[in-house]
Amino acid sequence: MYVFQDRLQRWARSRRWVSTGALLGCFALLGACGDDGAGTETDSGNSSESGESGDPSAGTGEPAGLTYWQDVAPIYFERCAGCHTEGGIAPFRLDTYQDAATWAEASRAATQARTMPPWLVTDDGSCGSFRDSRALSQDEIDTISSWIDDGAIEGEPRDDLQIPVVDALKGGETYTTPTFFPEPEGGLFAEFDEYRCFLIDPDLERDVYLTAYDVMPGNPALVHHVLAMPVDPNLDVGGGQTNLDVIEALDAESPDRDGWPCFGVAGDGVEVDGIPITWAPGQGVVSFPEGTGFRVKQDDLLVVQIHYNMASPEVLGQSDSSSVRMRFADSVEREGFFELPDGFLDTLFSGDPASLPAGQSSVKFTWDMQLDGYLEWLNIDSLDVYGVFPHMHEFGRKIQMTVDHGDGQGPQCAADVQRWDFDWQLYYFYEEPLTLGPGSSIEVTCDFNTEGMDEPLWPGWGTYNEMCLMGLFLVP
Ligand code: HEC
Repeated sequence: MYVFQDRLQRWARSRRWVSTGALLGCFALLGACGDDGAGTETDSGNSSESGESGDPSAGTGEPAGLTYWQDVAPIYFERCAGCHTEGGIAPFRLDTYQDAATWAEASRAATQARTMPPWLVTDDGSCGSFRDSRALSQDEIDTISSWIDDGAIEGEPRDDLQIPVVDALKGGETYTTPTFFPEPEGGLFAEFDEYRCFLIDPDLERDVYLTAYDVMPGNPALVHHVLAMPVDPNLDVGGGQTNLDVIEALDAESPDRDGWPCFGVAGDGVEVDGIPITWAPGQGVVSFPEGTGFRVKQDDLLVVQIHYNMASPEVLGQSDSSSVRMRFADSVEREGFFELPDGFLDTLFSGDPASLPAGQSSVKFTWDMQLDGYLEWLNIDSLDVYGVFPHMHEFGRKIQMTVDHGDGQGPQCAADVQRWDFDWQLYYFYEEPLTLGPGSSIEVTCDFNTEGMDEPLWPGWGTYNEMCLMGLFLVP
């Protein structure tokens, strides 16, 4: 049980968020909440101490200490308030002083651990560099921390700060999910969550190329993430069944509710053609790299997976109907495609499935992929990797990909997730694509925590199975 301590603590916290959030904040600030003057006392106490110890900000004659409105709010409005605002997906606000002060200590911890803003890949230049990064700079992290050291004081309120408006995709086709009333699934991994897949027929007249997309959550307080993936309904998935047969059977399990449950990807046994659309709040329009696009075949159907989060009790009983907007082109210069290699899941089909021992705080699985055969099969000389989509379930701790170009330099770090979090699944697009030529190979290592299990951990799509997937957006 203790394995899941972090998560359980988070859940426990989320249950208290509404009732005693403010009180916790006071404890966190070590007395900074008491009577009105207490905060400032703490503050002056701190700054004179730091002054004596040679703090460079001391002794300038300025009123000591960073303030919320002058120093922290610009960061919070820009980087946090897209989610942490009234009606946003996050369970508390950071765009008011009162709330920010209440959550000061937690925000320091989350920003220092780089779990907030949600951006899972290591993004400090040591392992790839990524477009549209949400990661805070070290300076921003330090500013938040110093503000708290200084007593989390308010400063002079201002009204010129704005939460950035995310642009909507112009043009394109819009597909909307049915009005759905999510209900917490319960259990260890979905106490406040429901994962639901919906089938949409895009009714295409011919093959087209997806070049950009956007997601408009109908109820932003409920929608935690959205994945959308084209599915070939007629694809034979084994056992005499097509994708559509599998989907219809899943759908029939809950005739009184739209859609079907799906935790990993599109649901048990559904084979998708890639996951071109991944969305989390505040993301805005995603355009595929210039000149590239992803082919959606005329007969393809679209499976839209929505993760509804109900950690804030006020959203219980509310409904959602969200839209995915897709921009298509008739042709593109370079057709990109999504591969979903998962050497762990693949063992299910090898006749000798891999399993991981129970009761370990860290157990690793590594797979690799040699590019030569793949390039030959595609009849091309090289491939560019434009983006990566790391994916594991709730037992996952870390996932890393290295690339060996076969040039004698050895494996290079290409993507590194040090704190896997199932709640935040995103494609990460590189600033500069990685080129893979003959002799190249990819190696992926997943690290799982099986301490809470009594039985070995098997690969699979369900809540209590695991995956070690590194989705790749590839352009020949
Ligand atoms: C993309 C949306 C989003 C952004 C941007 C974001 N948060 Fe969050 N935050 C959430 C959600 C949702 C939760 C609730 C827990 C969860 O679902 O992970 C959360 C939880 C938290 C928590 C509770 C403790 C924890 O770690 O779970 C803190 C503290 C926090 N956020 C601080 C911040 C700060 C500070 C920023 C900006 C520097 C920020 N967040 C940016 C969505 C966001």
